[in-house]
Amino acid sequence: MEGGAAAAAQALSRIGLAGLAVMGQNLALNVADKGFAISVYNRTTSKIDETVERARREGQLPLFGQYNPRDFVLSIQKPRSVIILVKAGAPVDQTIAALSEHMEPGDTIIDGGNEWYENTERRISEASAKGLLYLGMGVSGGEDGARNGPSLMPGGSHQAYLNVRDILEKVAAQVEDGPCVTYIGEGGSGNFVKMVHNGIEYGDMQLISEAYDVLKNVGGLSNSELADIFAEWNTGELESFLIEITADIFNVRDEEETGNKGELVDKILDKTGMKGTGKWTVQQAAELSIAAPTIAASLDSRYMSGLKEERQNAAQIFKKEGLEEDFSSPISGVDKKRLIDDVRQALYASKICSYAQGMNLLRAKSVEKGWGLNLGELARIWKGGCIIRAVFLDRIKKAYQRNPGLANLLVDPEFAREMVARQGGWRRVVGLAIQNGISVPGMSASLQYFDTYRRSRLPANLVQAQRDYFGAHTYERVDKEGAFHTEWSKLARKARI
Ligand code: 6PG
Repeated sequence: MEGGAAAAAQALSRIGLAGLAVMGQNLALNVADKGFAISVYNRTTSKIDETVERARREGQLPLFGQYNPRDFVLSIQKPRSVIILVKAGAPVDQTIAALSEHMEPGDTIIDGGNEWYENTERRISEASAKGLLYLGMGVSGGEDGARNGPSLMPGGSHQAYLNVRDILEKVAAQVEDGPCVTYIGEGGSGNFVKMVHNGIEYGDMQLISEAYDVLKNVGGLSNSELADIFAEWNTGELESFLIEITADIFNVRDEEETGNKGELVDKILDKTGMKGTGKWTVQQAAELSIAAPTIAASLDSRYMSGLKEERQNAAQIFKKEGLEEDFSSPISGVDKKRLIDDVRQALYASKICSYAQGMNLLRAKSVEKGWGLNLGELARIWKGGCIIRAVFLDRIKKAYQRNPGLANLLVDPEFAREMVARQGGWRRVVGLAIQNGISVPGMSASLQYFDTYRRSRLPANLVQAQRDYFGAHTYERVDKEGAFHTEWSKLARKARI
């Protein structure tokens, strides 16, 4: 039988998915597992066979392989919805071109990749010229999330969302207040929200690595002690996916090593890779005049980690000058128990500052684009499935529900109280790290963010005076309205005589 006829003979699938790399394969199996018949397609056909075989093994799931774009599209019920999960950028355009040729007005393309939001906005208008609907959908949770329940951030056509809402709500992670999916808003809002999620993810990971650095190099904690501490933290206010996997990591032994010695974490080169969403977050923060110092610090730390050779050379140069990178830990006089508790508080307070920055960025973009983002709802869909899932997101959700116009998470009465309660430990940790030459760019950026935001008077008056002095940029006064300019040098000369 000819391919198209074969597809027609079989009952039509409810949805399709093209792009069967790790994320695509697992998401397709998840959809089939929830009882929705799904057609799958991939350019390299061995991936199709692999996915079909997995569907068979995992319980005869209703997943059907199609071997060319036409059969794939025609095997789906109208109005058709096709998820594509290929590398962001040009591959998405190529896949859309191959599939849309066979699609009809009213059909939908859903891009589930980490795409730059403006690419999605361009594709929305290209699709609409053909009568096609479009969603840019952030998908978070890695391989396991895709298979067992990711957090989904779909933005674009509301009608397209309604067409697949029942599927998305079943496929997403489930938490006590609902599935981790919601219609985000128009345009590229879904991709933008996912991008900020990733920026927060960068911040979280940096802060956790700093907590590790301080505990290891100031407190002298071993990997097994670190595993226990993180496991314990994961039962309290810090409970989250990233804290949980960190505890696991410290327990994993190096299998390369003979003689059963040492943990793998110590053998990993200290150079962080990245794909770019964190960089976009920081660029967007700058574009929108939103301070996001913790997220920026996490990005800078990744860049500096990449300079391994330069850092090794620098260590030698400074050693010759008498500045040795010598952590004869635990540093004498440090109360280990107190340090651990202080680091826990510093980590928590620093994270809250980082989430506040991310939320402010989302709000600013929402105002610029008219997306009407609901910050409480975004915190809710991040409670499960995604990489930044954490117990305290429920409290962030409630803070924005209590007051949708909240200027900053830090001034929500509950969070304000917590910040004040934790500032002693937080300051001790940052101070101790600085004194001992251990860089804590994320924790100190968060602390500086807090200290800057809470002060009613900053030294910005002096900067204004300088700007007016050399550039006649004018300044405002505290005691009356208006723009003022002063002949500073003339008056200064007069003052000298
Ligand atoms: C997720 C993750 C994921 C991201 C990786 C890698 O939510 O599942 O954010 O989408 O691609 O974490 O990001 P970097 O390579 O930039 O660290």
